[in-house]
This record gives sequence, C-alpha cells and structure tokens, in this order.
Amino acid sequence: TANTTLLSPGQTELKFPQLIEMKARGRFGCVWKAQLPDRYVAVKIFYAQDKQSWLNEQEILNTDLVYKHPNVLHIIGAASRRVGVETELWLITDFHELGSLADFLKVQTMSLSDALKFSETMAIGLSFLHEDILCGSKPNQNECKPAIAHRDFKSKNVLITGDMSAVIADFGLAAKFEPGESTGESHGQVGTRRYMAPEVLEGAINFQRDAFLRIDMYAFGLVLWEIVTRCSDIPGGSFPLYFMPYEPELGQHPSLEQMQDFVVERKQRPKIEDAWRQRKVIGSLCDTIEECWDHDAEARLSAGCVEERIHTLRQHLIS
Ligand code: ADE
Repeated sequence: TANTTLLSPGQTELKFPQLIEMKARGRFGCVWKAQLPDRYVAVKIFYAQDKQSWLNEQEILNTDLVYKHPNVLHIIGAASRRVGVETELWLITDFHELGSLADFLKVQTMSLSDALKFSETMAIGLSFLHEDILCGSKPNQNECKPAIAHRDFKSKNVLITGDMSAVIADFGLAAKFEPGESTGESHGQVGTRRYMAPEVLEGAINFQRDAFLRIDMYAFGLVLWEIVTRCSDIPGGSFPLYFMPYEPELGQHPSLEQMQDFVVERKQRPKIEDAWRQRKVIGSLCDTIEECWDHDAEARLSAGCVEERIHTLRQHLIS
C-alpha cells in the first residue's frame, strides 16, 4: 500500500507508526497509542465520511503559532492510507499517557494546587486560541494567527500532562475567523449536547465570531465545575464519584428536550454547594464558573479574563 505522510512544518521524513492500543472512541473515529522508533505518538483514525473533520483539524493544528503552543495538542503528521477498498484517515500527534481530563477525573481526585494549575493552563490555551494576533503587530511577520473557536470544548477534549498542565485537543469542528472575512455559513447546533450553551440549545443561528467564543466559554465553565467537584481540598470533601455536567440531574443520555427544558427554560446549572465557598479561593473559583456559564452570553467572562483570575488565585494559594 502507498502510505503518504504529510509532515507538520520543519519536519523531515517520518516512519509509519505501529498501532499498539485503542485509547478512546469518539464521534469521528478512534484514538490509538502508537509507536515510532523513538517514542509513542497518538494516532486518531477518522471514518472516511468524516474527511472534512480530518482536513479541518490538520488545518487548525498547522496554523502558524498554534502548532507550537504548549497548551494545544502538537501535530506530528497526517496520512491517508488505503486498506483494501477502504481509506483510513490518520492524524498523528503527541501522545499523553494520562489521557483526557474526563479519563483522569473518573479515577482520581486533584489537589487544589493541581486543580488551579490545570485550570490556569487550560485558560491559557483557550485564551491563546481565541486571541486574534494581527500580522505585523510583532517584529516577526509570521507571528500572527486568526481567532479560533473550538466549538466542542469538553473534558474529553482536554488532555492532561504528567505535570498537570492542560493540552487542548480535538479540532474537527473548530472555526478560524480571518480578519475581514465574513463567516458565510450559518453553523447550527454542533458540538456535544451536554455542553451546548443555552443559545445553541435554543437553535439560534447565524452566530458571529464573538458569539462562538462565548459558546466556548459556557462549556469552559462546565469543565471548571467538573474539576472543582473532584478537588480533594473542597470543604466537605470532593464528590466520591466523577459526574459529567448535568449527569446528577439528567443522567447519562439526556435528550435535547431535557437539556432545553433544564438549561434554557428553567435556567438551571450544575450544583455549586454552599459549603465549597467556606474556602475563599474555591469560592472565588465558583464565582468565576458562574460568570463563565451566565445565561446572557455577552455577560460571560473572556478566556483571557479567566486566565488572569486563576493566575491571581494561584498566587494567593502560594503566598
Ligand atoms: N486521547 C485522545 N487524544 C489523545 C492523545 N493525544 N494522547 C493520549 N490520549 C488521547
């Protein structure tokens, strides 16, 4: 079979990695742990019908600046590979042994210090993606990037490194907003139902750039809540089990109607216990969560603002 491996900027020939073990299965295919001669890599194999996601994810991850940000998954290469009559679409990236934040929280709790470190690096990553860095605004002309909305932000799509930093992954649905270009298509309800902001659940369409960034921030608030529930230092103790957002109220497979009723009509959000606020730093984190998932999209905090707030909280914790 003719294997073609397209490489990310600055890289030379790459051997085809050997698949070792399937690690995750998602809407677009599955993720494998794989072996190169000198290291492990992750191989995401897309279903042939999801070619658009494969192309989109490569385009986003190969964007100037994005491919070298420490809090965004690092792309190594991409390949399309014929297996009999089928075509497999491969995306090769760094491998993170601990997997996603959701995988981690299912089996472990986090100290407050780790929870804040992870949350801050996750905010740094998202704030970097959301930021529009104009060409020529920096001495090096290549140091520019468009604003990028993730559009499927959730704890399964944020990986965790050995030193408790966040690495944002899964850019199959992400959108770039080049300055001066209009966003022609009206993107409707995409992403994962459980993490859909009220305006998405309502089916509002024709969103502009800032609306997409605010939709990411709502989901970001839900992920922060997941982290706090599994923080071993919360007053009263962490949840003994990991719950997805709205899982205690709506179970494992809420319908669109259930989500609309709970989140839009009744304006409910995941429960924040009063006791958690007995510890000041956690109280401040809870305030930040509530400002991320505000019903009014325009009132939500920006990723840059969340980054600053969590940075300040970490300094209070250290001093
Ligand atoms: N799960 C999804 N993507 C992954 C990656 N790059 N490394 C480890 N686990 C993953």
